[in-house]
Amino acid sequence: MNELQETIKKILASGKGILAADASTPTMTKRFEKVGIASTEETRRQFRQLLVTTPDLEKYIGGVILFDETIRQKLDNGKTFSEHLAGRGILPGIKVDEGTEPFGGSENEKITKGLDGLAGRLGEYVVMGAKFTKWRAVITIGKGIPTLECIQANADTLAEFVFASQAKGFVAIPEPEVVMDGNHTIKKCEEITIETLQALFKSLKTQGVDLEGLILKTNMVLPGKESGQKVSVQEIAQATIRALRNSVPTEVPAIVFLSGGQEAVLATERLNEICKAADVPWELGFSFERALEGPAMEIWKGKAENTDVAQAALLHRAKMNSLARKGEYKKELENE
Ligand code: 13P
Repeated sequence: MNELQETIKKILASGKGILAADASTPTMTKRFEKVGIASTEETRRQFRQLLVTTPDLEKYIGGVILFDETIRQKLDNGKTFSEHLAGRGILPGIKVDEGTEPFGGSENEKITKGLDGLAGRLGEYVVMGAKFTKWRAVITIGKGIPTLECIQANADTLAEFVFASQAKGFVAIPEPEVVMDGNHTIKKCEEITIETLQALFKSLKTQGVDLEGLILKTNMVLPGKESGQKVSVQEIAQATIRALRNSVPTEVPAIVFLSGGQEAVLATERLNEICKAADVPWELGFSFERALEGPAMEIWKGKAENTDVAQAALLHRAKMNSLARKGEYKKELENE
């Protein structure tokens, strides 16, 4: 096994998953505003400190994705976030994209920025102790979109990101997200997810990356938020597994899901059903932001006295999702 494969094994060892604590400052500000927390460099540091100092977190979380601001900050004890995580046996990772901009002059489609100066930033992150990198691309379903051009441009950019990351010794997590916004059916989401992933793996092959040294992060196959379509967890799991079988090479060691704005318990139920799928060649797991830290943020509200209860809420979600990874989650466990 090479070093990248060993890193992947450590991140996903024994039912563990990834905590995506890498929301950009504008996204974090939006999340904070919803629960009445002022978004400042210090409140963002405090919230991330609350997350990474949660007792027992290392039982269920093997990797935490940090944001550029956070990896440069310190905890109250003077340690950097990377040092603290590494000390607990949790691997620190880093989001290296720089958000999206309109694609092809249209506000409806997005291309992710961040290739300029990427090699230099990756060099800095090596020194700061990061072991893996993430890049998110956004694919939106709507009238006449996504266009093939947008899917292709994002696939090519993701492939350049993977190549550059692996060249510096990082496990790369390309994250093409077909977002839930819209009134499309689950069938449409399945088609677009397949197209997006097929384009990605074609670009990755052209770039000549090491497929065994990456983790794919992708969306579950779901109906659009505004579609009104009712689907069972079984239908979601079947559609998701079908899409992956149709597009992800068997050399890829692991696939983790994003939560994409799904309600936290629902994301866990769906993850559980997907992970029950037998005979898939990949490890399946989770890399959630909102479905892990959302409940903790609502409880914390920026107040030190709420820290313990907020941490308990994070640990609970981490445990539930870790059970779901093994297909052992049951809704009754929510009331434990
Ligand atoms: P969500 O789980 O909230 O979708 O976030 C995952 C992520 O990393 C988005 O880039």
